[in-house]
Amino acid sequence: MSRQRSGRTRKPAENKKTTIAALATFGLIFVAVVVFVIRPTADTASQAEAETGGKVLFETYCAACHGEQGQGGIVPEAPALNADGPASQLSDAEIAQMMRQGSELMPAMGADFTDEQVAAVTVFIKSLWTPEQRAAQPGQN
Ligand code: HEC
Repeated sequence: MSRQRSGRTRKPAENKKTTIAALATFGLIFVAVVVFVIRPTADTASQAEAETGGKVLFETYCAACHGEQGQGGIVPEAPALNADGPASQLSDAEIAQMMRQGSELMPAMGADFTDEQVAAVTVFIKSLWTPEQRAAQPGQN
């Protein structure tokens, strides 16, 4: 009698466990597929976002001396930051240091920038370079 009863109660519980396990498995597969499909798009989107954000910051804080397209020469001493200038051989860290600390000739225009803003401006500057120049200074790109 008691064996029968326990047999009766165990069965639905096991069915429930199996259903939950199946749902969890499908859930995991679904999440994995979604992440796999979305990830490349998300990377591209955040890259584009950084470039756009960086462009706005660059136009606000840097273009007065370096030019809107980083062509340089707006202020005589300000070098080009695009593909034509020596800045296209700078590492991300060197560009960041220039923003954060400036030099005798350049004010520390990015002293108050967040790390994200420094990175975004760097992405924008590097978008003005050739693919070869970017490849030579991998950094975050
Ligand atoms: C007031 C004018 C001025 C502003 C504004 C300015 N810069 Fe400069 N920048 C200069 C000058 C002048 C130099 C050359 C400094 C030197 O050689 O010591 C320079 C040099 C640099 C260099 C080094 C270039 C190289 O070839 O070595 C980088 C990178 C740079 N600036 C980035 C920026 C960024 C990014 C901003 C905005 C956040 C900015 N600058 C804003 C005047 C300016």
